[in-house]
Amino acid sequence: MTSISTENTSTVTVGMVWGDEGKAKVLTDNIAESLEAGRDVINPRFQGGANAGHTVYVRTESGIVEFISHMAPIGVASNCKIAEGPDVAFNPIQFWKEVSDAKKLFGFNNDIYLSERTGVLFDYHKKIDKLHEAEAGRVLGKKVGTTQSGIGPFYMDNARRTTRITLVDYVSPEFNSLLGKVMELKRQEIEAALALDNEDLRKAGVRSVSDYHDWIVAQHEGVRRELRPFVCRLEYILRRAIESGKTDVHVEGGQGSMLDVNMGTTPDQTASHLLATDALASLGLPRRAVKIIGVAKVCPTRVGGGYMPTLADDEFGAEMQKNSGEFGKTTGRARRVGYPDWVILRYAAMINDIDEIALTRIDNAQDRDIKVCIGYDTNGLGVSREVPMKLQGIIPFYDMKSYRWHLFDAPADLSDPIKVDVELKSRRKAVIDAGFDNLPADLIEYVRNQDKYVGKPVTMLSIGPTQGEMLRRH
Ligand code: IMP
Repeated sequence: MTSISTENTSTVTVGMVWGDEGKAKVLTDNIAESLEAGRDVINPRFQGGANAGHTVYVRTESGIVEFISHMAPIGVASNCKIAEGPDVAFNPIQFWKEVSDAKKLFGFNNDIYLSERTGVLFDYHKKIDKLHEAEAGRVLGKKVGTTQSGIGPFYMDNARRTTRITLVDYVSPEFNSLLGKVMELKRQEIEAALALDNEDLRKAGVRSVSDYHDWIVAQHEGVRRELRPFVCRLEYILRRAIESGKTDVHVEGGQGSMLDVNMGTTPDQTASHLLATDALASLGLPRRAVKIIGVAKVCPTRVGGGYMPTLADDEFGAEMQKNSGEFGKTTGRARRVGYPDWVILRYAAMINDIDEIALTRIDNAQDRDIKVCIGYDTNGLGVSREVPMKLQGIIPFYDMKSYRWHLFDAPADLSDPIKVDVELKSRRKAVIDAGFDNLPADLIEYVRNQDKYVGKPVTMLSIGPTQGEMLRRH
């Protein structure tokens, strides 16, 4: 076998806490750096589905364009090669719509690789997600608060195996009959889901499982034809690309480590495996060939249900939420904001085997007193630096020192990046050009203290939402 360079110009990028950390921005910057260096780039998504919402602000000739992708890897906006791995909950209709949008907006015309092993998420997964949430509410008195994208039911079908339809079967002539058999195996649950009020199906005149099958087949017919040429043995393509020494593979995660189905905080997780090491396993990538980048916001946020030890249920949290426009791109729900939590970052660095950290939203956090959680007091048993499985009942222990920095003069409300771009882009550039050593003293100290506590260095500092607004610390 050909040798693999250990220069690590390929990366795996994952969120370190509850998602929405700015992975898309970090990936876009790293993809741009590879392309500028004359290297070929493949950007595979490795898990999750349309529950993710990745936003980038791309500078085009007609100004800044906001682009949100749920299913397509964010590389569509950079016109690099894109891929979907076997552990993705693949919604083909959503994927093709986003690829088509990227063609119009950014002239995307590059190669697409879809693993033959990737499972397909159908409309019934979404309806069953709704059903499961209703049942959880009735029996447990508490829902997960899912994005209702069908993620949990999809991974249940993967584990059951007989109800999983992979891309290789999806694009084959046997698809219609296979879908019929799978829906027969799932009849009870599909009937229960159909009994809920589903306005779209009511309008389409879907009354039975058989009608529903025909409706799904019709929905997918065109997309199946479009996607057929892209289905491949992805693991071999990625391996050859890495071995060529000319291609950087920039792997994209969705969500954040604390939502991982095993290692996250139970029970409010998503249903997929989302640690960086899972990316290596599912894409067949060698650890030595990639740099693992963890992305963290200065102040973590959480959308949906679930406990947050450092929840800022005060003026600070309300201001940060407004100033940063913390509303979910998938469901529109408000994201709760917390104070920096280095205990969680240290845990995330460990379980992901993280090499470097990208710290985001440093501009949004300016001009505020920032306190930092450096321990958890668990049920009066003393302060610990470890993260237990259940966060309920934890009292955060904050460092005596708080931090405050000022990068540049800016409006109080930065929630609409397009509105403030003209005013701020040169100020942001000046900060980036001046380099790390010329940042405000408190920010430098914050980063150095976080490095020491977490055990892995911050190498990228995001101080603005558009591509390139990233200070690299060498
Ligand atoms: P599901 O992934 O739709 O099953 O939702 C399970 C939990 O994960 C809910 O609390 C969601 O709000 C959360 N979640 C799922 N995807 C994301 C994401 O991309 N960002 C933040 N939270 C997410």
